[in-house]
Parts: sequence; structure tokens; C-alpha cells
Amino acid sequence: MIAAEDINGKILFQDGDHQFIWLGADPEAVSGVVQTNQYLIIEKGRGMLLDPGGVHLFARVVAVVSRYISLDKIEAIFFSHQDPDVSSGIALWLGVTSAKIYVSSLWLRFLPHFGIVDQSRVIGIEEHGNTYKLAGSSTIQFIPAHFLHSTGNYSAFDEKSRILFSGDVGAAVFPPGKEQLFIEDFDQALPYVEPFHKRYMASNRAALQWIKRVRPLNPIMLAAQHGGVYKGKGVTEFLDWFERLSCGIDIIETIYK
Ligand SMILES: [Fe+2]
Ligand SMILES: [Fe+2]
Repeated sequence: MIAAEDINGKILFQDGDHQFIWLGADPEAVSGVVQTNQYLIIEKGRGMLLDPGGVHLFARVVAVVSRYISLDKIEAIFFSHQDPDVSSGIALWLGVTSAKIYVSSLWLRFLPHFGIVDQSRVIGIEEHGNTYKLAGSSTIQFIPAHFLHSTGNYSAFDEKSRILFSGDVGAAVFPPGKEQLFIEDFDQALPYVEPFHKRYMASNRAALQWIKRVRPLNPIMLAAQHGGVYKGKGVTEFLDWFERLSCGIDIIETIYK
């Protein structure tokens, strides 16, 4: 269970003037709407938001973010991909911050359908990934995660905390009352992780490309956009499982049955 006080978020990593923050559980989660996680990285008083989410979460996420940093200090917003649960609040976020948005270059022409006004503030990430220097100094790597599940898709690795924001990769869909912030025992979380990955992730071949990039980073946590944050042995247990998973077009015949 996620504790009641966690509606205000939790600092997952802190060292000097660097923080990696989970932005809390939604106390009014609506049934039938997939639960999402939002995250904030702060370096020297400057912030980067990771998948701040859809329109209906906007007021809650603004309130929690404001506990840690003032909105005018957010210099960047990362969207792992184009899905509405990630990015449909884009016009609202552009309105309350002066941040630039970083998203796959494949989605630049599609995001205006969520109501963008100023395209000059939306920057395309190149296919092979980029790095971003938060506050001009702290490196965030945009790691390609194409076809996992979106065709133009990235994870974000914060070098200082060594936390990997993995977007939809690692997503768990917990039933009400079974939510947990940390996944340290992967076997226990597997029933909530497996169905999503088998249906939404494009193929094992796509997974292997991502894992090849992620393993050498040796992340201490894997923070997913849905479900929990993998830590401890949960990180390697997830990677080992995903590496062997048949999913998407590998098993397309079973979907059509
Ligand atoms: Fe998605
Ligand atoms: Fe998602």
C-alpha cells in the first residue's frame, strides 16, 4: 500500500543540491483511468519534469511540484512519448512555466493536437538520443526506447542519482488497494507487469536494444510511469525477465485468436 502522506511525493535521491523526486499518488484516482507517476529532478534550484501527465492531473501535479520548486525554475520538461497520459497537459505546462519541452522528433507535428501555441519551445530528440545539462551542469541522458511501446520513445537517465526514468517500460497496473511505491521483489509484482508488457511492447528484439543500452548504466532504481519504482534486486530481476519476454509481434497470432 502507498502511505497516505505520500500524496505529497517522496524524495527518492538527495545529494547536496541534487534531488530526484516522485511526485506522489493521486488520492482521487478515478476508476477506469490508469494510474500514473510523475517525477521531478532538481539541480541547483533548477528543475526538469518527467512525464508530468494529462490534463485531469494538472492541478494536483502543479500543487505537489510547488512544494519543492517554484514553477518559474522549471527549465525543461521531458516527454517519454506522445501518449495522452504523458503529454496531454502540454499546453497548460507551457502556460505556467517557461520550460522547453523535449520529446521524440517523430511527435513534433502531432503534439499541437493537444493545443500547443508556441512550437519554438518544443525540441525534438534525435533517434540515437541526446544528453541534456540541467542547470547547465548535471547530465540527463535520453536513452532510446523505440517501440517500447511508442515508435519514438525514450527513457531518461539521471547520471547523478543513477535513477533511470523508464516511461512505460516496467509499468505495473496494480488493482485498487494493491498499489506499492517500491518493487523490490519482482516475482510478487509480475502478475501486474506481465500482461501490459506482452500486449503493449512491440517485440523482444526492441526490448534487447534498450536493455543493451541500460545495463551498462547500472541504474540503482528504475522509475516507471505506471505502478512502482524498482530498486535493489528488483532492477536486475526486471531486466532479466524483460530480456527473455516474447511480446507484441512475437506473439501476434495469440492476439488475433
Ligand atoms: Fe504509453
Ligand atoms: Fe503510459
